[in-house]
Amino acid sequence: MNGASSYSGLVDRAFIFILGTSVLLLIGLTGVMIYFLVRYRRSKNPNPAQIKDNVTLETLWTVLPTILVLVMFYYGWAGFKVMRDIPEDAMPVTVKAQMWSWVFEYENGKQSTELIVPTGRPVSLNLESSDVIHSFFVPAFRLKEDCMPGRTNHAWFESIRDGDYNIFCAEYCGERHSAMLSMVRSIPAKEFDEWLGVDTGPPEGTQLLAIKGCVACHTIDGSKLIGPSFKGMFGRTETVVTDGVPRQIVVDEQYIRKSIFEPNADIVEGYQPLMPAQGDLLTEEEIEAIIEVIKEL
Ligand code: CUA
Repeated sequence: MNGASSYSGLVDRAFIFILGTSVLLLIGLTGVMIYFLVRYRRSKNPNPAQIKDNVTLETLWTVLPTILVLVMFYYGWAGFKVMRDIPEDAMPVTVKAQMWSWVFEYENGKQSTELIVPTGRPVSLNLESSDVIHSFFVPAFRLKEDCMPGRTNHAWFESIRDGDYNIFCAEYCGERHSAMLSMVRSIPAKEFDEWLGVDTGPPEGTQLLAIKGCVACHTIDGSKLIGPSFKGMFGRTETVVTDGVPRQIVVDEQYIRKSIFEPNADIVEGYQPLMPAQGDLLTEEEIEAIIEVIKEL
């Protein structure tokens, strides 16, 4: 696939050079090996010769590989340097990774579950994680950078073509790692400015559940994922396991609140204690809003 970022050609150049060199060496060495097997087989050459001190040969097999790896290093370095030098006029976007979803936050506070970017303008990324190590990976941009808890990593890219590009998580981060997907949507700069300028206000309803990453594990359509579905949950009588003992509870505001702060205290029977505590990641208003949304589902 053709790269879609300003520096993808540099990454491809290093990759193709290393791959090409390796293929040529494989073919050449295998050919010489087969030739030697036939040419110097025992029935034709019963007495092997001892060959020592061939200066020309020794110089050649030292100098040529050195040049080869230096060229590989140069191509790798040239691409790496461009990827590390973040342009000063780049538009900053904060990438927030969490088990198991992505949220993108723009300078004006706008949040999105997809990375919308203007084609032809550099975008700088501040990569964060609220729980474990994830890795932000956009193959079409040849961009991959870890998201670590407790620190901010940096990367940048400039999309050179309008289009939709996959985002993957490239670091195993638990049960739903393979479902930690999103999209880069590269759109014309003018459309982007309009999109960014439209104040959608704080996320509401199911949009809030998406932004906060709830729907990575809890569906809103009744199907079963890592956790129980939100649909029809409120007011239901449920069997939960508390300290290994099953008991009956009614799903009310208090239960949902407790499940946000201490997710593993009362686990619904049949599920695993996998949810990270969300208390520090949500404001009181957001918790109330989430409870309201769940009530409606
Ligand atoms: Cu996040 Cu794998």
